[in-house]
Amino acid sequence: MSIASSIPHTFTRERRQPWLRSVPAPAAPAPIAANSAAIVTPIEAPARQVPAVVASPQVPTCHGTFVEYANFDHGASTPALASVKAAVDKATQTYSSVHRGQGWASQVSSHYYEAARDEVARFVGAREGDEVVFTRNTTDSFNLLARSLPRRTQVIVFASEHHATLLPWEGRKTTRLPVPLTHKDAEALLTDALKRATSSSTLVVLSGASNVTGEYWPIERLAAIARKRGARVALDAAQLAGHRRIDLDTLGVDYVAFSGHKIYAPYGAGVLVGRSDWLDAAAPYLAGGGATAAVSPLSTTWQTGPARHEGGSPNVLGAVAVAAACAAIRENRGAVEAHESRLTTRLVDGLRAIGGVETFSIFGDDADRAPVVTFTVEDVESSLVSAALSAEHGIGVRDGKFCAHLLVDTLLADEDADITTAVRVSAGLATTDEHVDRLLAAVASLAATGPGVEYQKVEGRGWVPVDDQRETLVDLPW
Ligand SMILES: Cc1ncc(COP(=O)(O)O)c(C=O)c1O
Repeated sequence: MSIASSIPHTFTRERRQPWLRSVPAPAAPAPIAANSAAIVTPIEAPARQVPAVVASPQVPTCHGTFVEYANFDHGASTPALASVKAAVDKATQTYSSVHRGQGWASQVSSHYYEAARDEVARFVGAREGDEVVFTRNTTDSFNLLARSLPRRTQVIVFASEHHATLLPWEGRKTTRLPVPLTHKDAEALLTDALKRATSSSTLVVLSGASNVTGEYWPIERLAAIARKRGARVALDAAQLAGHRRIDLDTLGVDYVAFSGHKIYAPYGAGVLVGRSDWLDAAAPYLAGGGATAAVSPLSTTWQTGPARHEGGSPNVLGAVAVAAACAAIRENRGAVEAHESRLTTRLVDGLRAIGGVETFSIFGDDADRAPVVTFTVEDVESSLVSAALSAEHGIGVRDGKFCAHLLVDTLLADEDADITTAVRVSAGLATTDEHVDRLLAAVASLAATGPGVEYQKVEGRGWVPVDDQRETLVDLPW
């Protein structure tokens, strides 16, 4: 089997899609030996199943027992899909430089890297003229976009955004809109801000789903408002990509960014996909090898296309991981959504039914959301709730302000002054019914009678059980 025949859609797309234009011609199919078939056969995910994640670890509790880790922190980072790990293992067999060698392994690695770009493009419905740039993560993607804006571009962003989406823009050219109360309110706030925008170049930055409450934003409607006024739209899909389909055309957005480690590909890569003109006109994000077309003593000519912003040796295994995750989710979209919709209902209903637990939302309790719930427990500090869930029950959650300080402060504004943080549970493909049952029982017990053992605050570690016999150091993985 040849490289070309193993990834059949690649070559037709290469002819018309500009995100591949700076790529050297892929290896000619003919010379590939028959015994290399094992190297180039793509990983095929079974259709219409919830993609499997790597096995959850057994973790110690302070009671001296071991339980299966119940990961309710998918919103921070997801575990690897088994198919992603397999794809990375396979690509590791031929791991080599990308676009820097004629050796066979280099050609295969280069081909994997460009095929990964193609898979990401397909995952988000990239259009003619869009580029797929590999970055480190969403934060990196928005910093790249911020540095690529034409001079005098005004940016409009809601205060509810994650800091990665809120902060990269130059302060004096940025308008921050307040946290809206309803979808209609969001539309009115944006319309008003656009009417007041004076620059000929405006970028509206939106989130697909809140990392605090999991609620989906009305992207299509907000993007239509922006487009009507000639503004471009950038979508933070960090909390959307793993849950719902993204199609740039249907949504009407110009740029989208997301991170591999939030879609079951924890191997250090993210993406920025979108219109090439601003990106091609901007200074290279990372000046160096790979970003250059020619260098003379007096001048440097930079590449156009994704290579312009991907200076240095690319993270080919990260790109392979992102692509494998995109493929698995895309091919099993229906099963993923059905699994998550069931989890969302159980989590939301279950937590709301517990006395002393208060859950939070931006747009109201009935808003459509990912399996994410943020809550407080009456009379129990959020950091103690998360410590007790971990130490006593083997459950991983997050507490704090979730890198969205302005939103959390707004959501907690009506609470007692001493309640400044909350607990977030975020479920996903590693979540089982038993995990949900365990979480709900543990939160109910905490709300009713407090933690099951005594805790003390330890500098640098937060709350820890007073009598904790667990090893604090584990064997290193290398
Ligand atoms: C909505 C949202 N945007 C952006 C980010 C930043 O992602 P990363 O840390 O991968 O850059 C996060 C991370 O939690 C997020 O939840």
